Amino acid sequence: MFLGIDIGTSGVKVCLIDAKTRVIGDATMPLTISHPRPGWSEQTPADWWAAVVAATRTVLEAHPGTAGRIEGIGLSGQMHGAVLLDAACDVIRPAILWNDGRSEAQCAEITARDPALAEIAGVRPMAGFTAPKLMWLARHEPEAYGRVAHILLPKDWIGYRLHGGLVTDPSDAAGTFWLDQAAATWSDALCDATGTQIGWLPELRAGNAVAGMLQDEAAQALGLPAGLPVAAGAGDAAAGAVAIGAIREGEGFISLGTSGQVFLPTATYRAAPEAGVHSFAHTLPGLWFQMAAILNGARPMSWFADVAQAPIPTLLDEASRVNLDRLPLFLPYLTGERTPHGDTDIRAGFYGLSNGTGRAEMMRAVLDAIAMSLADATAAIASATPLPRAMLTLGGGARSDLLLQTIADATGLTLERGEKAEIGPAYGAALLGASAVGAGAIETLVRRPDVTARFAPSEAGAARLAPRLEAYRALYQALKPISR
Ligand code: XUL
Repeated sequence: MFLGIDIGTSGVKVCLIDAKTRVIGDATMPLTISHPRPGWSEQTPADWWAAVVAATRTVLEAHPGTAGRIEGIGLSGQMHGAVLLDAACDVIRPAILWNDGRSEAQCAEITARDPALAEIAGVRPMAGFTAPKLMWLARHEPEAYGRVAHILLPKDWIGYRLHGGLVTDPSDAAGTFWLDQAAATWSDALCDATGTQIGWLPELRAGNAVAGMLQDEAAQALGLPAGLPVAAGAGDAAAGAVAIGAIREGEGFISLGTSGQVFLPTATYRAAPEAGVHSFAHTLPGLWFQMAAILNGARPMSWFADVAQAPIPTLLDEASRVNLDRLPLFLPYLTGERTPHGDTDIRAGFYGLSNGTGRAEMMRAVLDAIAMSLADATAAIASATPLPRAMLTLGGGARSDLLLQTIADATGLTLERGEKAEIGPAYGAALLGASAVGAGAIETLVRRPDVTARFAPSEAGAARLAPRLEAYRALYQALKPISR
């Protein structure tokens, strides 16, 4: 049996699989995000560890007798977050997360220094990435910057707690803006441009390589035997790809978690930074991916459910019955946007509210907005590489028929829901753990899930959304100048 641990943004998920890679159980422990200033986004690494311990113990307790049968552990986590450690490997300050917009000025500095750096990094500099955060630290918290001795991504800090090594994998390294994507090695040029000593960065190992062995203290906390191999694992986008079998050219999917991604594996490195596309090293050697990363994924649904103080299923049901002629528009940019705009300042908003607008109309506008942000995202990728006609979906948002149908209508793609679509990266992490301990080559362990529902674009839906998409794009352009 194998465990996969995913350090998500809204929670830590632990997934238990058997030797035949079937999911036996999973548990999630919620996490909170702190926003010390507007546009900032932080979490305390110690909270991740507490959630890892609680979720692991919950899974093991639900399946008595399994702890002694676990053979390996794999990791996945939110990408881009800066976990800063001093020379004693103590955490210097709260981690600055992927959806934190404080380092926009530093991105402009990188571009001004040399726009060609984007070709090495596979993406133009954007505030979510790790390197501009370190530059922000140097400028605004020089005392903290002066203590930096090691930098880890979120899952790698959990790896450090588990096995004591400082290790990352190419797919998580890819999101730092320090990786030479073509070579899948740290780049001197990118480190020089961003005030980073290459020695601060962790060792690179493939996602399905062993990074270290479970140490006594961690084993005791988790209720597992010491000495278990821990695989390097992958950033959540690439771990989701492993979960869904997307490890060959063209096997694309759309992920709908707190964030959202359109993800397309490629057999060669193809940079396309202009459109805001991320061309990143995959977690396995000799493989890359192109990704459109949207910051607000399915999150606007849960945000609106909190505001309306109603459960998401109730709101979805109400939204499915509204008069479609009277819908407001919504911009989903709660935390700014990465693809295609690279805009940390823009914020979400409703436009076109009238006396007749109620929460059902607003929820429907939220769903349309998620779908339209994916229309922008798929258009960005398609400008670089043609997309397959049908895309699998994963993540919590993939549970909603109405959302998937709306995305199909807005993008013109057929969307597919596979079994266990919501487990995603934690399952991918478990597969990487299994492969690392020799349970099989990763190509033999992963498989495309059986499709349980298919959503083809409908003519009526496409006709309804086409003018709304035009208005949505115009609304963004109109609000951009006043969002700063
Ligand atoms: C990808 C991205 C998010 C985070 C959090 O570029 O920013 O997917 O990994 O899920």
